[in-house]
Amino acid sequence: MRIGMLTGGGDCPGLNAVIRAAVRVGLQHGHEHVGLHGGWRGLLQRDTQPLDRDVVGPILTRGGTILGSSRTNPFKDPDGGERCVRAFADLGLDALIAIGGEDTLGVARRLHDEHGLNVIGVPKTIDNDLSGTDYTFGFWTAVQIASDAIDRLHTTAESHDRVIVVEVMGRHAGWIALEAGTAGGAHVILIPEQRPDVAEVCRRVTERRERGRRYAIVVVSEGVVLGDEDAGGEVDEFGHVQLAKQSVGERLAELISERTGAEARPVVLGHVQRGGTPIAYDRVLATRYGAQAATLAAERRYGRMVALQGGRITDIPLSDAVSVLKTVPEDVYRATAQVIAGP
Ligand code: F6P
Repeated sequence: MRIGMLTGGGDCPGLNAVIRAAVRVGLQHGHEHVGLHGGWRGLLQRDTQPLDRDVVGPILTRGGTILGSSRTNPFKDPDGGERCVRAFADLGLDALIAIGGEDTLGVARRLHDEHGLNVIGVPKTIDNDLSGTDYTFGFWTAVQIASDAIDRLHTTAESHDRVIVVEVMGRHAGWIALEAGTAGGAHVILIPEQRPDVAEVCRRVTERRERGRRYAIVVVSEGVVLGDEDAGGEVDEFGHVQLAKQSVGERLAELISERTGAEARPVVLGHVQRGGTPIAYDRVLATRYGAQAATLAAERRYGRMVALQGGRITDIPLSDAVSVLKTVPEDVYRATAQVIAGP
């Protein structure tokens, strides 16, 4: 079999580990592999490279993706699906492994369900917002990077009696903020699933300061909408609203300064959360996902996404993974908030 592989959407630590494992296992089944450059763009433009043992040998620990990525959405054009089918045939592909998040796998689902293409998905995103899997690979690396940063911010915030507002990634789901804020001992955690009450945040900061704790760490997901602000704005190829020009971390720090009199500074962690080598957990998870994707291809089980459920690698229909975003349940958030609000 000739198997194509692509990485779509935002890059994520562990992408190369998936590619490596899928190729190494695929070779044992006698498969040949071809990488498509820049996500779905690589398929449409037939922009490829061979993937063999030598290419994937040294990439286990490398961040980013050797194939490049993009947010190209073939279905933006009415004939996009047909164009993918033609490119698939021109490239002589028997199957395609798409490694991506909700958008990339949403395209994979449509190509399988509506156009009959032999597609298999692997769940990637630092946001951890795909349904049907306990974790997407790359998530815990992002959490580690963010919690390391929060650790460092504690000491400088304390030294200067400052409130530091740490903005982490997560447009629709607050998993990174929740876990990094918990691990980093944040004093307030704000996630997109719960519209925050800025007055309550300021009250907590003031109360803390009155108790002699002059500094505070506030962790906020980039997708949080403050008070009665409008979340509207330009949309990308997948119809997602673009974030406001001034980040929520910056706006929140300004509001805290104005309303509490404390000196508040924003720190926007941004793409540092996606860069660099994956932590061991994500190398292992990505490797297991890649191996399972190759196995599904060998078994000709298409339209599926590999997944982690209860510690075991399994697979689910792509449609189950992309139908609903996995957001932070209110009770999970409340349980954490309870600890944070404690004495
Ligand atoms: O891939 C997910 C993600 O990292 C989100 O957390 C973030 O909102 C977005 O990508 C940023 O995308 P870009 O790098 O295209 O601005």
